[in-house]
Amino acid sequence: MATILITGGTGYIGSHAAIQLFEQGRFNVVSIDNQLRSSIKALDRIEAISGRRMTNYSIDACDLHAVEEVFEAHPDIVGVIHFAALKAVGESVEHPLFYYRNNLESLVNMLACCEKYHVANFIFSSSCTVYGDIAVEELPVTEKTITTEAASPYGATKLMGERIIQDFIVSTDKVKAIALRYFNPVGAHESGLNGEEPIGRPNNLVPYITMTASGLLEQLTVFGGDYNTRDGSALRDYIHVTDIADAHLLALDYLMEGRNTAPYERFNLGSGNGVTVLEAIAAFEKASGVKLNYRVGDRRPGDVEQIYSDSSLAKEKLGWETKYDINDMMASAWKWQLELNKTKEKQQS
Ligand code: UD1
Repeated sequence: MATILITGGTGYIGSHAAIQLFEQGRFNVVSIDNQLRSSIKALDRIEAISGRRMTNYSIDACDLHAVEEVFEAHPDIVGVIHFAALKAVGESVEHPLFYYRNNLESLVNMLACCEKYHVANFIFSSSCTVYGDIAVEELPVTEKTITTEAASPYGATKLMGERIIQDFIVSTDKVKAIALRYFNPVGAHESGLNGEEPIGRPNNLVPYITMTASGLLEQLTVFGGDYNTRDGSALRDYIHVTDIADAHLLALDYLMEGRNTAPYERFNLGSGNGVTVLEAIAAFEKASGVKLNYRVGDRRPGDVEQIYSDSSLAKEKLGWETKYDINDMMASAWKWQLELNKTKEKQQS
């Protein structure tokens, strides 16, 4: 059986993709993840859901020699999905070199290994952050929307990452690549047995909501109530993590079957629906039956006012269809939070 190598396999999106790859049954899945921002327990969760145990190499993807050893141990690798990256916008402003080194060196290593070990299919986790602070008239964004200067070092690593791949692909005829530009991935596996597990205080909205609702955090602050949106709070395009994971399997097939129309293509992955922070909170309260303790506070530096996607290119070319809406996202995120709380209670007793 051919092998797919994923980096960040114990992370939020990587673990969901691993489950789906195993369930599809066509590939073996091997991961590189040093658990810098994830838990090795993800391997148990993947196994509980898919019935398959993923081999994970706990090495740093920035360590070229260690990465080469993985490729040498698995000569049957036919595709690489590179999820591993740091993603906290605020932290990237405080520690830019940490972000540039980690996110870019790992990418360069994976590309170099694809070329050296003749792995023809490469998928990169990019982000809607490449569009920067977009004018309302330009919404929804398509892949043709001009990418602008990144608002944070994190954003710059995604923009540069896309550029690095482009330059690399021009220089080689051995590798084809796809960059998937995620909008805001949220939610959890429908079983409630796998989801996002932030280490420490979360930065992202949905884990913040579910942890506040559980009493693990005192209160949620809505960052900004004076934006030019329908209710004054910022607007995003939330997309279910399972839908995001689906797109990776479709993108792999697309490359492997030679249906790609260029050696390097980029696709938006969003639902196409803009949802404000206050609407997201209302959807959560409806799905969970829990009243959330929140207040409207100041804007968060570096946040954009509103962004949502036109994902018709991914639909047309990859055959990608989203299956879940904001209510499913919130219901599954809550189910997962309750599961996490249960595990924590067991550990404490
Ligand atoms: C950011 C990045 C995105 C990246 C993602 C991963 C930008 C423009 N976006 O998304 O590319 O993939 O992080 O981490 O760089 N909010 C609150 N209170 C909170 C937390 C969040 O009101 O406690 C609001 C934010 O202001 C924002 C929305 O919720 O309007 C979503 O925030 P978040 O989940 O952090 O994601 P983004 O900042 O949109």
